[in-house]
Amino acid sequence: MIYRARPLILFLIFLPLLATAAELKPPAAGIASAHPLATRAGHEILARGGNAFDAAVAIAATLAVVEPYGSGLGGGGFWLLHRARDGFETMVDARERAPMAATRDMYLDESGRPVAGLSLNGPLAAAIPGLPAALAHVAEKYGRLPLTQSLAPAIRLARKGFAVTARYRKLAERRMDVLNAHPAAARVFLDNGFVPDPGFIVRQPDLARTLVRLAKKGRAGFYAGVTARRLVEGVRAAGGIWSLKDLADYRIVERTPVHGRHKNIRVTSAALPSSGGTVLTQMLNILEGFDLNKLDRVQRAQVIIEAMRLAYRDRARYLGDPDFVSVDTQRLLSHDYAVRLRRALRTRVKLDAPRRQTETRGTGTNTTHFSVIDREGNRVAVTLSINYAFGSGFMPPGTGVLLNNEMDDFVIKPGVPNVYGLVGAEANAIAPGKRPLSSMTPTFLETDDAVVVLGTPGGSRIITMVLLAALEFANNRGDAASWVALPRFHHQYLPDRVEYEPDAFSKPEVRALEGLGYKLVLRKNGYGNMQAVVWYKTGNRVAAASDPRGEGLALVR
Ligand code: DON
Repeated sequence: MIYRARPLILFLIFLPLLATAAELKPPAAGIASAHPLATRAGHEILARGGNAFDAAVAIAATLAVVEPYGSGLGGGGFWLLHRARDGFETMVDARERAPMAATRDMYLDESGRPVAGLSLNGPLAAAIPGLPAALAHVAEKYGRLPLTQSLAPAIRLARKGFAVTARYRKLAERRMDVLNAHPAAARVFLDNGFVPDPGFIVRQPDLARTLVRLAKKGRAGFYAGVTARRLVEGVRAAGGIWSLKDLADYRIVERTPVHGRHKNIRVTSAALPSSGGTVLTQMLNILEGFDLNKLDRVQRAQVIIEAMRLAYRDRARYLGDPDFVSVDTQRLLSHDYAVRLRRALRTRVKLDAPRRQTETRGTGTNTTHFSVIDREGNRVAVTLSINYAFGSGFMPPGTGVLLNNEMDDFVIKPGVPNVYGLVGAEANAIAPGKRPLSSMTPTFLETDDAVVVLGTPGGSRIITMVLLAALEFANNRGDAASWVALPRFHHQYLPDRVEYEPDAFSKPEVRALEGLGYKLVLRKNGYGNMQAVVWYKTGNRVAAASDPRGEGLALVR
């Protein structure tokens, strides 16, 4: 009798514990973004009854207004979503697509040489934007609030204006000539043709009206009607090749994220056409075979650098838009393949000789990322871009929409590096309707005890920044503040050199790495702008951090 009662008693004793485990919810919501106004917009929408997805719509739209150099309605990006209710996860691919009139050699002159600046400046550099479609899609399918509500903070800021910051000035300075070549953009972003003073108020009434049309009509408010007409007329009048059909045909695609495992952590990250999740997982798979904490600092750096080189070589060779080329991601992500690569890695591997090398010009502070966890446990990691600072610098008159120069992420010509020094192959050649290969890496890292949401801008260096944060989490745990502040180093196969931030290596370590045959290049001003939110289940606590290199804000409330 007693014996038979025991399971019941045990069950009754443990019932409350089981119940709390199943129902455990974050005690607060965390948001980290690259701009304080965007972080506040996200919390405002949560306070109005929105979930993390509504907040993400509000944050993305606000960043489109207050960080015109980083992302915007004229750009695109990748949204990684996790719905707490049923654990459903998806990646919303809002990457720009090449217009249908695009051709493989469109940036080459008659003798087959790349025309300087053609894939970077002006309307020919712009692919068909994806962000407006993503805002409408995420709000409708995953959010709770109407777009009119979630876009309200962005509309308000476009009308009232925002104050110019140091970062704005630095990037406007860099792109001043291109902005001045396009009057509609110069009028909005410069002060009489010059970089505005700190505190200068940038007002964007045209953008506010475009946002209102999007809020009221959903995707048709951007991809059809007056906005679409003005976009296409402006682009064509300035020598571009967009058509109304390009806009009408634009679709976001929901794709299965890349899933990986590294030691004790589960990794969920961006799928193609971003190379982010694939390259990240490949590097983590290779490094799985090492106990990094048992290596000295130079050995540790060496194996990480070699993992970077090998994975970026595969990026250059094989990766492209999966709707256009077949990529054997299953093989690339397999542990067997990682074991093979790892064997090659114990010494500095000889890879094919570079055909040509350039400087990477990206600073890693344009483009943008934000991370959100709400009180229900929904989570969102979004990396958005118009590519280079202030995109193509071109704004079709009457739209307020600054267009991207994401076409430069394609391979303009085999072997010719893009603005981030990346080379590629046939898989990433230009084709009508194709999406250029990206490096954006919005990521979730999970253990049984913690859920981390993070990502960063930084062009080709995005993936290695996320790698270093993931390794820190896996090996030393750390916290949100330490992941975003971590000193960084980077190798991308070509150019064949290691870039590093001042605190990444000591002088003797630099000498030791040089002795091993590496060329090291110091990035004095640092790079990246990582935004991280973490929910610790033990102790039930939410923390968030914004990269000290940027001007962002992380807020838990
Ligand atoms: O999609 C990509 O990989 C690039 N367009 C991202 C650009 C970027 O992060 C610029 N930041 N420095």
